[in-house]
Amino acid sequence: MNIVRRRPWDISERKVTPEHLAVNRRALLAGAGAVTILPPAARADVTTNPAYTPGRAITEEKYATTYNNYYEFGESKNIWGDAQNLKTRPWSIQFDGLVSKPRTLGLDDLLKQVQLEERIYRHRCVETWAMTVPWTGFPLSALVKLADPLASAKYVVFETAQDKSMDGLNAPFYPWPYIEGVTIQEAANDLGFIATGLYGKPLPRQNGAPLRLTLPWKYGFKSAKAIVKVSFTEKRPATFWESIGPSEYGFWANVNPAVPHPRWSQSTERLLGSDERIPTQIFNGYGEQVAGLYSGQTNEKLFM
Ligand code: MTE
Repeated sequence: MNIVRRRPWDISERKVTPEHLAVNRRALLAGAGAVTILPPAARADVTTNPAYTPGRAITEEKYATTYNNYYEFGESKNIWGDAQNLKTRPWSIQFDGLVSKPRTLGLDDLLKQVQLEERIYRHRCVETWAMTVPWTGFPLSALVKLADPLASAKYVVFETAQDKSMDGLNAPFYPWPYIEGVTIQEAANDLGFIATGLYGKPLPRQNGAPLRLTLPWKYGFKSAKAIVKVSFTEKRPATFWESIGPSEYGFWANVNPAVPHPRWSQSTERLLGSDERIPTQIFNGYGEQVAGLYSGQTNEKLFM
């Protein structure tokens, strides 16, 4: 993304066909790669939820998996090759802060306790590029339930991996680790999702393997990749991008075409692959599901 550092720091309205869903699901169930990410019990139970169809053509896999933002691997969009060096097994996730019992859960144990499903979501980067992709994973609310937060918890904070394979961590300017957060109410919304797969295959490392947050109504920088810790706090966290540029990458980061980024318009978006520009929708088109979270809150900062 572009930040104010004076240094460098992106459909047609075709319907998604049931065939596409069927193909992805079959691939997930039968694909060799699936074996590495889904325990057999969970694999047999993957469902495709018809409530999450995007109303746009799916982005071709080759674009979504080769044009990425992942600053731990560098500032370029072309980090997919380097990201293959990240070791995603064994992996565990730590629950701490305001929880009934702080603990660390292995990825396989975690996957045995959730119901996997497939959701096709639109993704809108603050830099104005957009994609539409089929994720496999489970609701964020299920992760919160497993963590068992106390009633006093107001925020859910995600911390992501810092691994020796990540050369970008040597860039001293950035406030590592990558931290993101949402309110406990946002985390309970049905749209919040933890992805473990993409296009019916295990989640590619460049897209955030093995566990990646997906919040389709918010700008993409909220979608923390390679999550290693989930903490519950009373205080709003200082997030990675907000610490770097608070007027450019705010905590709320809800998509809104009417509120420009200080340095560019947010009124349209460029579709990865076709490069077609189309109008951006408030809450990335998910207002029906999420606008209620913000009723009474009219602060413009909700949108940047
Ligand atoms: N997560 C981590 N750990 N590091 C990052 O640099 N970049 C974010 C988000 N999650 C980022 C991250 C940004 S800016 C975007 S737009 C999305 O990941 C990009 O996801 P994609 O590469 O899968 O499209």
